[in-house]
Amino acid sequence: MSKEKVVLAYSGGLDTSVCVKWLQDEKNLDVVCVCGNVGQEETGLDAKKQKALDLGVLDCQVLDLRDEFSDEFLTKAIAANSMYENKYPLLSALSRPLLAKKLVEVAHEFGAPSVAHGCTGKGNDQVRFEAAVKALDPELKVIAPVREWDLKCRPDEVAYAHAHNVPVPEGANDNPYSIDDNLWGRAIECGVLEDPWSEPPADIYTMTTDPEKAPWNEPLDDAWVMTKNPEDTPDTPTYTEIEFEAGKPVAVDGKKMKLSGIVIALNKISGDNGFGRLDLVEDRLVGLKSRECYEVPGALTLITAHKALEDICVEGDLLKTKIKLEQDWATAVYNGQWYSPLKNALDAFMADTQKFVTGTVRLKFFKGNCHVVGRKSPFSLYDYGLATYDRDTTFDEKASAGFIEIDTLSLKTWAKVQGPSSAAAQA
Ligand code: ARG
Repeated sequence: MSKEKVVLAYSGGLDTSVCVKWLQDEKNLDVVCVCGNVGQEETGLDAKKQKALDLGVLDCQVLDLRDEFSDEFLTKAIAANSMYENKYPLLSALSRPLLAKKLVEVAHEFGAPSVAHGCTGKGNDQVRFEAAVKALDPELKVIAPVREWDLKCRPDEVAYAHAHNVPVPEGANDNPYSIDDNLWGRAIECGVLEDPWSEPPADIYTMTTDPEKAPWNEPLDDAWVMTKNPEDTPDTPTYTEIEFEAGKPVAVDGKKMKLSGIVIALNKISGDNGFGRLDLVEDRLVGLKSRECYEVPGALTLITAHKALEDICVEGDLLKTKIKLEQDWATAVYNGQWYSPLKNALDAFMADTQKFVTGTVRLKFFKGNCHVVGRKSPFSLYDYGLATYDRDTTFDEKASAGFIEIDTLSLKTWAKVQGPSSAAAQA
């Protein structure tokens, strides 16, 4: 009789490789792995597939999700200027619902009654996976081996792997950080970063050049993996233009590209200029504060540019309401509510605001900074005639007197009856 099946979100790293074995041995399940490519730095997905097959899985599906991630998830994140607690651009929170959707699809394809993930019981990602799975198919069961097993730390997992013939990546005990990355950036936690007072060591960053090491300072020995050598870093400002159509980035420096290409191009330009590092403490859904470091060069660049274009294209009252709802959007997504009625309704609002967000933004990168230095749009609401202080302005300054008279009427009434100089206040 064939065994029951489970579909596992598999990254090929130590955690999920141990999960494969544990699901086979402890739960007596046939495992199908799903390995999503959402633009993570790590290559060698074919080797990871082979590793899973060697562990005896029924199948390992490697899916290239970069365009779906960009078009369905990042487009919405840009429209909503996504920044949880006004600081974190939600990179992990954006990929989990897409990976969960793939788990559900593959579970249906294989007739598996359950799915599994390798998230810990302390983080947000478990909630995001499971909330998404429940929203897409409430009948599916979810297994979270890391919450169930007794392997308390990485060395325990390494020992388990050795004992069960699971190949252990070289240096598995040495890497002190927990990394999650995709097109939208890299999240780095654990190790010395758990002390919020200690400065992040230089070697945690691989996407952004350290501004201290740019050529205007003495080059230092460093441990950069992905970014240019300091001597190759530009010592003059870099100007970049980003074009948007209805809120969606469509071109960089005049070159039309699909969104995934734009994000990759901007990760490079801003990363090379040392822009896009965050060191912050955020509030996890499970109730604890956690210190996180992020490299999000392309994400921060796109959000900065997009906001600048909205400033001229979105009517003032609408913009003020949008800014408030952006926080609600980011909180919903952070909390795993990607597939929810609230998030759907907020998306509809955001989409409506983007109809006229078409135009170009010019950015200047230098020494770890990114400044907006120009914006233009065929739908710009910026009216030079109204704004100028020149003699030929079209703004009727005399009309302001009547406006202030009416606008302050309520305040004056309050001042007379209850305000600081009123009889009531003197009494
Ligand atoms: N704190 C971030 C979030 O909840 C990042 C989590 C990244 N996960 C990781 N395994 N390092 O979205």
